[in-house]
Amino acid sequence: MSLQTEIEKRRTFGIISHPDAGKTTLTEKLLLFGGAIQTAGTVKRNKIEKTATSDFMEIEKQRGISVATSVMGFDYQDFKVNILDTPGHKDFAEDTYRTLTAVDSVILVVDCVKGVEEQTRKLMQVCRMRNTPVIIFINKMDREGQNPFDLLDELETELNISTRPLSWPIGIGSTFKGVFNIFNNTLSLFSANKKHIEDDVIEIKTLADTQLDTIVGENLATKLREDIELIESFYEPFNQTLYKEGYLAPVFFGSAINNFGVKELLDTFVRIAPEPQARATLERLINPAESNFSGFVFKIHANLDPNHRDRIAFCRICSGKFERNVFYKNTRTQKKLRFASPTSFMANAKSVIDEAWPGDVVGLYDSGNFKIGDTITTGEDIRFVGIPSFSPEIFKEIENTDPMKSKQLEKGIQQLTDEGVAQLFIQNPGNRKIIGTVGELQFEVIQFRLLQEYGASCIFRHLNFTKAHWFTCPDALKLNEFIQRNHAKVGFDKENRPVLFTTSPWDLDYTKRQYEHIVFHETSEF
Ligand code: G4P
Repeated sequence: MSLQTEIEKRRTFGIISHPDAGKTTLTEKLLLFGGAIQTAGTVKRNKIEKTATSDFMEIEKQRGISVATSVMGFDYQDFKVNILDTPGHKDFAEDTYRTLTAVDSVILVVDCVKGVEEQTRKLMQVCRMRNTPVIIFINKMDREGQNPFDLLDELETELNISTRPLSWPIGIGSTFKGVFNIFNNTLSLFSANKKHIEDDVIEIKTLADTQLDTIVGENLATKLREDIELIESFYEPFNQTLYKEGYLAPVFFGSAINNFGVKELLDTFVRIAPEPQARATLERLINPAESNFSGFVFKIHANLDPNHRDRIAFCRICSGKFERNVFYKNTRTQKKLRFASPTSFMANAKSVIDEAWPGDVVGLYDSGNFKIGDTITTGEDIRFVGIPSFSPEIFKEIENTDPMKSKQLEKGIQQLTDEGVAQLFIQNPGNRKIIGTVGELQFEVIQFRLLQEYGASCIFRHLNFTKAHWFTCPDALKLNEFIQRNHAKVGFDKENRPVLFTTSPWDLDYTKRQYEHIVFHETSEF
């Protein structure tokens, strides 16, 4: 098959949600419909359980298991679907943000009872930054949720995106009868059934059809007619270009646990979602159809077993064909590497592959050559952009408690932060090391891994900072002056870029007002 055909077949996406909205359930149901798994429960096992917050070893164990399901690929109709798993646990939000750099679109799951929640907002902000196309799945329609029009309003105002319903619920909660597919004029009838995977679909020629009243009852039929009339008068017809550009989110309603609305979602998704797109590098735009292979590392997973120090680097292929046992270059280190057993992930099975295509993710065994964000090519010196670091929210100073092991500690911190477990900032004078994360859990993970894998021990001292902003100034003298004056609150990231630590939004505003010539950046890419 030609490169172009392989590209056109691929749909690489992530499913995101606030914890508990139904991301795991929907992922599993998509795999079930896609024929990638035969029984429910497979994905559930890989979920980081809420109850395990204080038991990080358990979480790491679960993360270990979840390597296999980090990417779930399956064939559906004429498409190759790649679902990139994102950890639901909020302490791993940084992992999720990075994974979103490797997708071409996302499905956002929203709980119809709770509507937009904190993580929904944060994740959407990340999608909006890159104009990632979003489809919204409103889940749990079997529960007494909010009025669907109110939900759409809330989505638009809180998430800063236009919406367009492509299906519409008939009743909600105890009166939920099913959904009306606005495009095909079909009715999917709801039956609470966790095993059954085909919806009962009835075609009706027009909404005036009296069959509708017989099936869903007169009241709900009248309400549906009114709702649809309102939708058709209020919304423009669905515009696929606006969706692909990230301005318009089509909305579906269903109940993942009951397998309801899932097939409809998947069928529409493969039809409208974008194939692998061109990606920016510092040097030029890379088109997926270019014959030379290129890709970037968006995630590194370490083996926690001290006898097996290997790590798996997850590489998203951006252009050309990737081949096993061919030398490729890490453009950051200029080192040539070849991979004897690159793996692909099909649902819950890993297998060694000989080739992979744009949109695919390959797992590369790595003994410490990669850092998150690294670009791999057949030779061209390019660096993919769009894999920024976001500001951590918790900051602690790390203190060595075993002076005999300072070298090990140094190496451990460098490697763990290369893997993206946390961010490292250095404050001078004194080479003070500040670790920044989005969750408390990471500190336990770091402490444990430093001891286990590097024999180094440390303690953390809490700092009051709540955000770090990268900053620049065209005038080098003014930049230096700012750094000198604020040295107690300035640190340097691993690339030696300065950041300002602040203790509150007010603190940042105050500094901004005082130093109008300094430009502050929310992420490390500016
Ligand atoms: P997450 O990955 O987004 O965190 O959510 P997850 O799929 O684990 O779903 C969270 C809870 O919501 C689960 O219940 C799940 O069964 C339930 N759920 C998912 N989809 C629906 C739906 O369409 N309707 C209803 N009523 N519930 C739904 P749980 O009690 O936390 O777990 P479990 O004991 O059911 O496994």
